[in-house]
Amino acid sequence: MKLPTPPLPRALKPKPGRPGSRPPGNGDANGTGGNGKVRDLRPGTPDGNGERPSKGGPRVDRERFKEQALEVPIGVAGWLDERSGMSPFVRGLAYRKVPRGTNWWYTLGSATMFAFVAQAVTGVFLAMYYNPAPSEAYESITHITNDLFLGEFVRGMHKWGSTVMVILIFLHMARTFFFGAYKYPRELNWVIGVVLLVLTLAMGLSGYLLPFDQRGFWATVVAVNINASAPVMGPYIADFLRGGSEFTATTLSRFYSIHMLIIPGLIAALIGAHLYLVAKLGTTAPPWLKAEKAKALNQEEL
Ligand code: HEM
Repeated sequence: MKLPTPPLPRALKPKPGRPGSRPPGNGDANGTGGNGKVRDLRPGTPDGNGERPSKGGPRVDRERFKEQALEVPIGVAGWLDERSGMSPFVRGLAYRKVPRGTNWWYTLGSATMFAFVAQAVTGVFLAMYYNPAPSEAYESITHITNDLFLGEFVRGMHKWGSTVMVILIFLHMARTFFFGAYKYPRELNWVIGVVLLVLTLAMGLSGYLLPFDQRGFWATVVAVNINASAPVMGPYIADFLRGGSEFTATTLSRFYSIHMLIIPGLIAALIGAHLYLVAKLGTTAPPWLKAEKAKALNQEEL
């Protein structure tokens, strides 16, 4: 007796075509031919047009060939896209329209992001050797600087990189301010930006204590005391930062965790939200273009 064919598991069943795609059998938007298998659309194959793009051979319908080739998931990108559906997002981001007159000032946000990534990468390497115990911290920093391969270089990049990031963030903020990019509908992105600025400055402050040298220690004592003088919340913030009413070993490990976990995590999440809004709302046209447009409209009205 012939056994009936078992039903296909759900994952292997041919998927219905997406709205707007060609009906199954004629090939769907994935180039699967509607049967789950990827069709070989190269010329000369049964699914292709049977023509070879050779010099003397028949003319290949290039446009159709290109269209078909686009349907076939290509390599890694296709594999990823089939599973994540991220290509519309990536395409939207890469091909989004930017206003006429976009110039170098618009690169400051990306430059700030690059500075943040560089801080994160160099910070990870420093964390491999840094020891946040009061008796070890300074030793571990001198070990990184004097004994490790490229240690001084990586530490220097991290130290000067923090200053570069602060300068870039201020320049980026100035650009958005002077181009009027904080106005409707971008107010929320401006507010996120302000939080990013505060967090970046807090990164600098919390990192300053970590080498645990005289300068870092006393600078932090002063900064925490300034915080303590703020009305109402001040003393509580200072106690939280110190991990009690005195500077102890807990203060150092607390600053370390704030510096390498809490703030970078918040910054990364907020950069994600910031970029989402940039992609969604687009960038603002330079003010001189807006002025030109307004002038042209006024003249039309006259
Ligand atoms: C870690 C810090 C930051 C990163 C990585 C970052 C990144 C970016 C990027 C890549 C863009 C799009 C390109 C550009 O216009 O430069 C952008 C746009 C924008 N950023 Fe930032 N940003 C940061 C901080 C700030 C700060 C501090 C502010 C203001 C307080 C701000 C306000 C804005 C606004 C309003 C836009 C939209 C610009 C427009 O529509 O023309 N950002 N940001």
